[in-house]
Amino acid sequence: MEDRTPRPGDLEPIETASVDELRALQLDRLRWSLRHAYDNVPHYRRAFEDAGVHPDDLDELADLARFPFTTKADLRANYPFGMFAVPQDRVARVHASSGTTGRPTVVGYTREDIRTWSRVMARSIRASGGRPGDKVHVAYGYGLFTGGLGAHYGAEELGCTVIPVGGGMTERQVRLIVDFEPQVIMVTPSYMLSIVDEMERQGVDPRSTSLRVGIFGAEPWTNEMRREIETRLDIHAVDIYGLSEVMGPGVANECVETKDGLHVWEDHFYPEVIDPITEKVLPDGETGELVFTSLTKQAMPVVRYRTRDLTRLLPGTARTMRRMEKVTGRTDDMIILRGVNLFPTQIEELILQVPALTPHFQCVLERSGRLDSLTVKVERRKGATEAEVELAAVELTHLVKSTIGVTVGVDVVDLAGVERSSGKMRRIVDLRAQR
Ligand code: DLL
Repeated sequence: MEDRTPRPGDLEPIETASVDELRALQLDRLRWSLRHAYDNVPHYRRAFEDAGVHPDDLDELADLARFPFTTKADLRANYPFGMFAVPQDRVARVHASSGTTGRPTVVGYTREDIRTWSRVMARSIRASGGRPGDKVHVAYGYGLFTGGLGAHYGAEELGCTVIPVGGGMTERQVRLIVDFEPQVIMVTPSYMLSIVDEMERQGVDPRSTSLRVGIFGAEPWTNEMRREIETRLDIHAVDIYGLSEVMGPGVANECVETKDGLHVWEDHFYPEVIDPITEKVLPDGETGELVFTSLTKQAMPVVRYRTRDLTRLLPGTARTMRRMEKVTGRTDDMIILRGVNLFPTQIEELILQVPALTPHFQCVLERSGRLDSLTVKVERRKGATEAEVELAAVELTHLVKSTIGVTVGVDVVDLAGVERSSGKMRRIVDLRAQR
C-alpha cells in the first residue's frame, strides 16, 4: 500500500496546536454557541430555564455538564424548522435523516455552515490520505442524506476532481472506477463489498484498480472488516463518522498514518461521553453514549445532542484532537438475547474469523413461544466447498457461544442470498412482532 502520510505544511495549524490552545478556542466558541442557541431557539431557552441554567453560567468547559441534553424527540417535536436559529432566508440548504419510523429529522445550514462543513470534510479526506488533484468517486447517496453532498463539497474544497456517482447501479460503479481511474472512493463499507463482488463477477481484479484510499462510514464496521477490504482491494480503508443532526459526515475521521480511531474535529464539535442510564459524564477512556455540542454552527446549533452511538474518547495521537474509538453500535441496535447484550459488530468480527464465510450478513430475530432466537444469515465465500460451508456454520455457532455466551443459529446462504443495500446496510431483521 502506498505511503500517504501527510507532509509538513499539509495540515491546518489547529490540527497540531497545543491542547491548551484547543481548549481555549473551544471555551470561547462554546460560550458563543450556548448564547446563540438560547437567544434564537425557543426550545433551548425553555430547556435551559427548566434546568435552571443560563449561558453565562459557563466558566469552564466542564460546566457544560449542567446544561440539558437534546434528543431526537426534541428535534421531532420541533419539526420541521423549529430548531433553526436564523431566519429562513439565511438557510442555504436543508437535509433530513432517513428515520425509519415517524417524522424525519430536518437540519439546516447557512452558507457559512456549508463552508465549515466543506472544510471539515476536506480535512477528513486529507486525513484519510486524499490529496489535491486526486479523483474522488463519491458513491454515498445524494439527496436529503448528508453523505453524497457532504463528501462532494469536501472533495471540491480540497481541490480534487469529484465524480458524483451516488449509490446504486453496481455494474456502472465498476465501469466508472475502471474507466475514470479514481484514487479515492467514498462509500459505505457494506456497499464497497458489493462493488468488489461485482468487480470479480466482471473479471476485474480488485487489487489492480487505480484506487488507493477508501473513506468508509455511515454505519458501524470493524477492524476485521478493514482488513478484509484492504486485502481484497489493496487500498487504505479509513473510517469517517458523522451524523446529520451535528453536521453530516466529517465530525470525526481516522488518520491514514495511524488508523487508531477517529480524531474528533473538536474545534467545531465538542464531544462528551455519558453513561446512558445515569446520564453522568464519564471520564475519557470509559465507554458510553457519545454526546455532541456544536461550537460554530449557525443555522441549527445543537447542545448536548445524544447520538445513541457507543464509543469512548481517547487522547490525540496523529492530531491534537481526541480520538473516538470505532463505534461498536447504537443503543437502539443492541440485541438482548436471553439476558445477554450483543451488537451486530461482534458478529461481524467472528464471521471474519471463518474463512468460508463473507461479511454479507444479517441478524434475524424471531420469537417462538416466549423465547427469542437469533439466526445469523450469512453468505458463503465463492469457491468454498459444501464440506467447508457445513463446518463453517458449526464453527461460527461455537465462536459466538464461546466469546459472547449465547447460542445462535447460523444459516449459510449462497452468494447474493443476503439483502444488499447501496447505502446503510440493515444488519438487524426483527421478525418478533410479526406473527
Ligand atoms: O450517516 C452521515 C455520514 C455519511 C457519515 C457518510 C459518514 C459517511 P445519518 O444518516 O444522520 O448521517 O446517520 C448518523 O450513522 O449516529 C451512527 O449511528 C451511524 N454512523 C455514521 N458514521 C459511522 C461510522 C450519516 N463511521 C448515524 N461508524 C450515526 C459507525 C456510523 N456508525
